[in-house]
Amino acid sequence: MKYPLADFNITPDIAIVDPDLAETMPQKLTAHTGMDALTHAVEAYVSTLHCDYTDPLALHAIKMIHNDLIDSYNGDKEARARMHNAQCLAGMAFSNALLGIVHSMAHKTGAAYSGGHIVHGCANAMYLPKVVKFNSKVPEAAKRYADIARFIDLKGNNDEELVDALIAEIRSMNEKLSIPACIKEYEGGIIDEAEFNDKLGTVAELAVGDACTGSNPRPITAAEMEKLLTCCYYDKEVDF
Ligand SMILES: [Fe+2]
Repeated sequence: MKYPLADFNITPDIAIVDPDLAETMPQKLTAHTGMDALTHAVEAYVSTLHCDYTDPLALHAIKMIHNDLIDSYNGDKEARARMHNAQCLAGMAFSNALLGIVHSMAHKTGAAYSGGHIVHGCANAMYLPKVVKFNSKVPEAAKRYADIARFIDLKGNNDEELVDALIAEIRSMNEKLSIPACIKEYEGGIIDEAEFNDKLGTVAELAVGDACTGSNPRPITAAEMEKLLTCCYYDKEVDF
């Protein structure tokens, strides 16, 4: 098992936000980093540490990413430039409100398997719909996911329907970006099923202990994390 280094001493003080830098990004990197940015904004908006300063940054970033990511992926350079700004707004939201368990799971599954690395943004994109469903059992989180859904003009008669509409929209974005629905389908199946299940207990425990778990709107046990990771491997419905 490999462990990432993270500390405020190695956090940058300055970011150079210049769309020219992103103009020649490969298509796959555009998809993965774009969905990473969407996850930053969504997790920041529902984080237990969200506040009046982070909410507008998160919501506006979500709207921009929803509008521009697919076009940017398909080669629209103006949309690419707007995505470059949107990811920075999402970064400003999450560096203050912090994140949640989508990131905990992406961090701990990233370098855990011998078949290959699960790229960070792609991991987030696959796990986000599952975590939205899991977190939405907490009414306050469901209300905030519904806020997001309304803000990007999705339809639903109540919070539950709006949460489901948001999940469906994220899955549809993934499809348009050629991102698989689950780990089993990742890169043609490079993450071996037996190895995934062998390491499930350890990975789940590490994910619960990740720095991002503390600000997730719904607390999670190691047993629940195992179930959630299993849903992410097989693309199973989250019903707990
Ligand atoms: Fe991220």
